[in-house]
Amino acid sequence: MTDLDKAAYDVLPDGVLVADASGTVVVLNPAAERLLSTPADTAIGRDFREVLPLVDEQGRDWWACTDPYEGLATRTRQPERRLQVSGGPAEHRDLLVTAAYVRDGSRLTHLVIALRDTRTRERIERSRADLVSTVAHELRSPLTSVKGFTATLLAKWDRFNDEQKKLMLTTVNADADRVTRLLSELLDVSRIDAGRLEMRKQVVDLEKVVNKCVAGRVASGEPADRFVVSVAGELPEMWLDPDKIEQVVGNLVENALRHGDGTVTVQVRPADGGAEVTVGDEGEGIPEETASRVFTRFWRGGNRRGGTGLGLYIVKGLVEAHGGTIEVGRSPSGGAQFRFLLPAGKPPFEV
Ligand SMILES: Nc1ncnc2c1ncn2[C@@H]1O[C@H](COP(=O)(O)OP(=O)(O)O)[C@@H](O)[C@H]1O
Ligand SMILES: [Mg+2]
Repeated sequence: MTDLDKAAYDVLPDGVLVADASGTVVVLNPAAERLLSTPADTAIGRDFREVLPLVDEQGRDWWACTDPYEGLATRTRQPERRLQVSGGPAEHRDLLVTAAYVRDGSRLTHLVIALRDTRTRERIERSRADLVSTVAHELRSPLTSVKGFTATLLAKWDRFNDEQKKLMLTTVNADADRVTRLLSELLDVSRIDAGRLEMRKQVVDLEKVVNKCVAGRVASGEPADRFVVSVAGELPEMWLDPDKIEQVVGNLVENALRHGDGTVTVQVRPADGGAEVTVGDEGEGIPEETASRVFTRFWRGGNRRGGTGLGLYIVKGLVEAHGGTIEVGRSPSGGAQFRFLLPAGKPPFEV
């Protein structure tokens, strides 16, 4: 085996077992050692059926069924199968097994077997199932309220006065907004998870973005003196996706208003190769032990102040899509302070 072969086998996340023309194990890489709980030096030189005894879901000896050395001479690969180890230190472990047959004419010269842990995949599948059930749950409560109020209004229209009807319709309206918002956040989450965020970069004036966001909040009733915006120093030319940056700043300011308290301070300043933005407030802040969790999806830290817990996950995804980073700490006044760094970026194409 060359050094290159060895390095390749060593870094592979999947287990690999290679047997020669006589069925003797010649390679067992580190991932396979772990999956089979067998050190390579005790496996090499033994028959592959001994090192990797497998049974299918009916308990039949897998190698007797497929017989790689005597089976069809035209076969070159074995599609992925879920099989169980039937002996040795890893007995009863479930593995996903694929194989490739290397032939010289019709003679099998090498058998290459790839092994994958089923647990990783099951974990991913479970987290998808959790996501679906969380989403269904999040959709159900506003829809239950919409359905309840409309049904009541339709059935007993004449028994309510205008004031009561207006109150019910206001609730229905707010719940419909909540569903719409949740759906658009979920679309963002799925784009981020799939790496399908489309970036439309142009020169963005960060100070303008922040001021626009604050002005929007003031226009919708927030007192202007709750905000302090400061810009220190000369920023480089920033190539960013303006909609996404507005979304980031908007989300952080909204959180500061909704979950925080007091004055909301937004600072923009040049940083190494780009710009740094901090959004701080004077509320209770985020305890250090939960700081690493705030950016995970659906995390709300036990509060039920109307949000979905997706905001910061999306914020982080949008910042990272720009090549930036985000973290949370304490503001000088004790509240939460979010800080993100954005590299200046380059024009998407040179003119
Ligand atoms: N400025 C803040 N002060 C205190 N807690 C915060 C702040 N911003 C976010 N949080 C906490 O982080 C959680 C997640 O925020 P986010 O992802 O935006 O979800 P949402 O706002 O929908 O609840 C919030 O529910 C809240 O508990
Ligand atoms: Mg939020």
